[in-house]
Amino acid sequence: MSFVHDFDEVVDRRGTDSKKYSQYPADVLPMWIADSDFKAPKPVVDALVERMQQGVYGYTPISSRLRAAAAKWQTERFGWNVDESWVEFVPGVISGVISAVRALSHPGDNIVIQTPCYPPFTDLSDHNGRHLLRNALVLKDGRYEIDFEDFEEKAKDPRTKLFILCNPQNPTGRVFTREELVRLGEICLKHHVIILADEIHQDMVYQGHTHIPFASISKEFEQNTIAFMNPSKTFNLPGFRTAAFISANPVLKSLVHDVVVNNKAIGENICGTLAFCTAYEQCGYYADQIAAYVEKNRDLVEESLKDFDKIDVIHAEGTYLLWLDCRKTGMSQKELDDFFVNTVKLGLNSGKSFGPEGEGFLRINVACPRSTVEEAMKRIVTAFNA
Ligand SMILES: Cc1ncc(COP(=O)(O)O)c(C=O)c1O
Repeated sequence: MSFVHDFDEVVDRRGTDSKKYSQYPADVLPMWIADSDFKAPKPVVDALVERMQQGVYGYTPISSRLRAAAAKWQTERFGWNVDESWVEFVPGVISGVISAVRALSHPGDNIVIQTPCYPPFTDLSDHNGRHLLRNALVLKDGRYEIDFEDFEEKAKDPRTKLFILCNPQNPTGRVFTREELVRLGEICLKHHVIILADEIHQDMVYQGHTHIPFASISKEFEQNTIAFMNPSKTFNLPGFRTAAFISANPVLKSLVHDVVVNNKAIGENICGTLAFCTAYEQCGYYADQIAAYVEKNRDLVEESLKDFDKIDVIHAEGTYLLWLDCRKTGMSQKELDDFFVNTVKLGLNSGKSFGPEGEGFLRINVACPRSTVEEAMKRIVTAFNA
């Protein structure tokens, strides 16, 4: 099935229990948390409406349709031949990553992450007694690169059990190359470190870049990886709390699944499963169109701020999240955060929430109609020129 989705449509989300739209006063344009302002694909909306009209919403069994839909998506879109039996439901990627951390490491063990990083990665180790090792990405000529020597130092510590890879990377927008992934994976194999690959942003990759599922690189990597996926970012379904993890390694898979089951985090949500399956089965067209649309939003931000000496836009290779280097403003993070909310009237994510490496940065979410991005750029330029 194929439609042309209208990404220019402005949907009024105020008063709809939206977290994004409840955080700031009405005159602040919210461009922070990672959900989009786009309607979900028409086939998903139609399937949900039809199901809701039945009027009976009882318990559901574990869905084999969900396993098949996830496997098909990975195979057809990314060339990773996933068998349905490798897929399990989890209520969210972070919930799944936490289960994996509990299943595959012990309190006091190390987990490597690459920073700046999505905040729940740090919370999950703090709250579970794991020790976090921060392999900081290095900003070189406007692009974040991996410090492999530092990564290996951290990986070879005998207490290091896991590496949480985030690719495409939130918040830097890096889409790691095959060469980079191979080098990371070889180091992990050498030092017996298991990879948790959070690939939730896999569909949002821009021209000139390719998403390579980490586990697809080789049979050895596949056996050493748990991958996480959720249609939530691409199709704007995060409120349904329905995701999946994939592992070709039956031992790793069942260890993680046991923790999910023991936490009784297994009851699928009828709407979530239906949305997940319909999106992955029928909405490839939407994934293509949203990536092309948001890429133009990224270009618009870069173009609008290119002569602006106070903010450097880190060129995103993927994700709908742009990382703004605002250190030339000379403001402290607090001043920057306050200035954006109170003067610019934009609600963005504070760089410091992504770790100390994010000090002086802001993250802006451009998964919204072009008119919203235009308005945001107008607000930035006007406030800084005042
Ligand atoms: C890298 C990354 N992982 C996970 C999530 C959240 O996923 P979930 O809602 O499935 O836990 C996000 C949301 O912003 C994200 O950016």
